[in-house]
Amino acid sequence: MSLIENIIRPEVRSLAAYHVPDATGFVKLDAMENPYTLPPDLRDALARRLADVALNRYPTPTYIALKQSICGRLGVPSGFDVLLGNGSDELISIISLACARPGAKVLAPVPGFVMYSMSALFAGLEFIGVPLRADCTLDREAMLASIAQHRPSVVYLAYPNNPTGTLYREDDMLAILKAVGDSGVVVVDEAYQPFAQVSFMPHLPQFENLVVMRTVSKLGLAGIRLGYMSAGPALLAEFDKVRPPYNINVLTEAAAEFLLDHLDVLDAQASSLRGERERLAAALGTMPGIEVFPSAANFLLIRTRRSGQDGNTVFGRLLAQKVLIKNVGRMHPLLEDCLRVTVSTPEENNWFLDALRTSLTP
Ligand SMILES: Cc1ncc(COP(=O)(O)O)c(C=O)c1O
Repeated sequence: MSLIENIIRPEVRSLAAYHVPDATGFVKLDAMENPYTLPPDLRDALARRLADVALNRYPTPTYIALKQSICGRLGVPSGFDVLLGNGSDELISIISLACARPGAKVLAPVPGFVMYSMSALFAGLEFIGVPLRADCTLDREAMLASIAQHRPSVVYLAYPNNPTGTLYREDDMLAILKAVGDSGVVVVDEAYQPFAQVSFMPHLPQFENLVVMRTVSKLGLAGIRLGYMSAGPALLAEFDKVRPPYNINVLTEAAAEFLLDHLDVLDAQASSLRGERERLAAALGTMPGIEVFPSAANFLLIRTRRSGQDGNTVFGRLLAQKVLIKNVGRMHPLLEDCLRVTVSTPEENNWFLDALRTSLTP
């Protein structure tokens, strides 16, 4: 046996590394980023603020000022605190680690965000995927049956879902929260909340098993890597024990504190992206054979099959025109011939629409 076989877990060895394509020279519409940067005056003010950060010191371990700002400005109910993560990816692994009792299971609708199953696998938890319906809506009966059968310790519901953009019905989510009861936590992942404008935060006081998770990534700050989650104090205290100390670096802490005082700028960007989402969806809807799924996020899922071109061909032709979107066709059988495109500026959206039209011609 080689060194690698001797020491690395087989389930890790059999994985392919998470592949992020090089986007140099491409119109980058693959990662649900906000295309807008900060206005020049705000960038200068931020630079001055960051220049004062003491890089020689560890962060304040409690992150009290940043947490207070998040709680006060982002709709966390009074009396509830947040736990911070290096992106919500880190929060997902904290939850997995804390809940990895022998035999414990994680359950989520599929297709869904890939880190739910990956992080379960890393922590040694079994992942149960419950297929969405063909129209990408939540299959309430299948979810409830699977919850009754598996008694999962963690259930993830992305609200709205990635990669489909679907906003699940609130009454279905509430039924799931009640069915899971005190045998598990239900993590409502609101990564795309700025584009959906609905939230489960107000439900926190009602449900001891509810965790609401968010990120600043899609709001326009993907580069600083900051996620936060809220839940009842007892649950949050347990998750906090698993969090690596100083997991938020001083530059992220200072940048986030500063930008939370200027949320209006980011909110205005999100608002124009919501408008562009509607315009892009309408334009796609007029293209012969293109199926557009309803989306409450900053991306759209489309299916090309009825256009006479399969998803892989269209994806390849877009790449040849220097437009990078995400080919999700192999993620799950429900997504055959499906592509996911990030909503961007009017110029980039037009560029994509033109390139897609060209890609669909036989
Ligand atoms: C549903 C969902 N949750 C969480 C994340 C990760 O966000 P972050 O950048 O905070 O790690 C993503 C990223 O695409 C996502 O789609």
